[in-house]
Formats: sequence, structure tokens, C-alpha cells
Amino acid sequence: MNTDRTPAADRTVLVTGGTSGMGLATARRLLADGSRVVVTGRDDARLDRAARLLDAGDRLLAVRADAAVPADLARLADTVRERYGKLDGVFANAGVAGFRPLEEVTEDEFDRITGTNLKGVLFTVRHALPLLDAAGGGSVVLNASWTQHRGLPGAAVYAATKAGVRSLARTLGSELAGRRIRVNSVSPGYIVTEMFHRAVPDPADHEPIRGHVPLGRLGTAEDVAETVAFLLSDRSSYITAQDIVIDGGLVPAFPSLTG
Ligand SMILES: NC(=O)c1ccc[n+]([C@@H]2O[C@H](COP(=O)([O-])OP(=O)(O)OC[C@H]3O[C@@H](n4cnc5c(N)ncnc54)[C@H](OP(=O)(O)O)[C@@H]3O)[C@@H](O)[C@H]2O)c1
Repeated sequence: MNTDRTPAADRTVLVTGGTSGMGLATARRLLADGSRVVVTGRDDARLDRAARLLDAGDRLLAVRADAAVPADLARLADTVRERYGKLDGVFANAGVAGFRPLEEVTEDEFDRITGTNLKGVLFTVRHALPLLDAAGGGSVVLNASWTQHRGLPGAAVYAATKAGVRSLARTLGSELAGRRIRVNSVSPGYIVTEMFHRAVPDPADHEPIRGHVPLGRLGTAEDVAETVAFLLSDRSSYITAQDIVIDGGLVPAFPSLTG
């Protein structure tokens, strides 16, 4: 399988959750390569802002689509089909977080996190499939998390969804290989984005977290975008069903509860 035959200028890539953080940085990185990019989010004002920041004219399409709502994802696929006819790549990145002790986990919280992070990722790929087939194959990257590799107290639901995402990459990488579709996941470490600031609002708490990272700094959205762009390109044409950890060495060094 060599998906590199399509030059970047002829590629169309879907980035879910492209209004901020890693999704926005990846959209910017792909546009710089010359690809056409479709970004999604739940909020029109944030989508408008992303479109202004990316400033890519008709190489960019911003579509409101809630990843937790399969009907939205079906409508998104219709919109992409009408506009571009195919997809060469998908970054299923949209995700939400929530960290609390087990006794505080409610059913609503479980449904909120799993709805976007697990159901949303599965149905994103499911609805993109005919468009990937229309391109003759392609590359799918799922955004997991370092927390699927280690026991982080308070992350029961979030980490379980990310373990599910990694499992999807393994299964779908096998299932779709015959259709020339590669599927991998990335597991970012601590990456400074809106989500990070919501989870760790006090800057005084950043330093002890940084202390867990052997490379001595927190990650940036661009650190992740670079690896995702590699996985979406033909430069990674012999890699599928894998997970790539982008964490400055955090996972091997983290004082794990589970090994
Ligand atoms: N930051 C970290 O340290 C870290 C580490 C490991 C993994 N991750 C994962 O990285 C991914 C990106 O997060 P980020 O850190 O870049 O945070 P972010 O800046 O908060 O970005 C999250 C993106 O997801 C979108 N989104 C959330 N729920 C959505 C839904 N139901 N439908 C469509 N879009 C949705 C948001 O768009 P709107 O709000 O505009 O709808 C936004 O564009 C997530 O999957 C997260 O779990 C983050």
C-alpha cells in the first residue's frame, strides 16, 4: 500500500475538532503542504474564527458537526462529497475531557465523554469510509491519549475512551487494510491547549506536571500536528494499526499505578 501517489495539492483531509488546539494546528500544517482541509466543531462562532485564522480561501471548508451525533457526521460526509467528492485522510481528533474521582462520575458524565471520544470517533470513520473508498484508499489518524498507557487517578472514563480509540486503530487498521486504508492512533502527552488549561487552570500546577516530562517541557499542538501530518502522508505508507506516543518521554517515566 502506498498512499503517497497523491500529491498534497490533490488531497482532501477531514480534521474533526479543528477550531482550536491540535486540530487547528494540524489543519494549519496540512494547508501549508497544499492540501484541502475540512474542519469541524460544534459552534459557528468558533468555526468562523478558525476559518479566519487559517485564511485558506476555497482550500478550507468549515462545517458545524457534533461528533457525538451520527446524523451530523452523515450530513458532514454529504457536504464533503458535494464539495470535494472524496477524502484522502481523516484526523478524528474531536474530544472532550473530564477528570473526577470514581464516586463523582455520573451517568451523564459517562455519556458525555464516551459520546464524543468513542462513539464519535467510530462514527466519524464509519461515515468517512465511502469518501476514503472514493479516493482509492487513504490514511486515518485517531487522537487517543497518553492516559490509555498509564493509570492516572481521576481519569477512569476519559482514559477508557482513549483505550477504546487505540483499540479502534488496531481493529480498523486490520479491517480496512484491504481497502488501502491505513488507521493509526496518536497518544499525546501533556499538550498545552484549551483542554489542558481547562483541566489544569492554575499555572502553579503546571511546573510539577512539567517535572514528569523527561524532555523538560510541556508539548505544543504543533508537536502533535507534525506527527499527524506524517501519518496522514505517504511518508508513513508502511505503518498501520499502530499507536505513536508524542509525550516528551512522559509515559516511560510516569510513576504508574498500573505498570
Ligand atoms: N491537551 C492534552 O493534553 C491532550 C492530551 C492527550 C490527548 N488529547 C486529545 O486531543 C484532542 C484535541 O484536544 P485539544 O487538547 O487540542 O483540546 P481543545 O483545544 O479543547 O480542542 C478540542 C476540539 O474538539 C472539538 N470538539 C469537542 N467536542 C466536539 C464534538 N462533540 N463535536 C465536534 N467537535 C468537538 C472542539 O471544538 P468546539 O469546542 O469548537 O466544538 C475543539 O476544536 C482530544 O481528543 C483530546 O482528548 C489532549
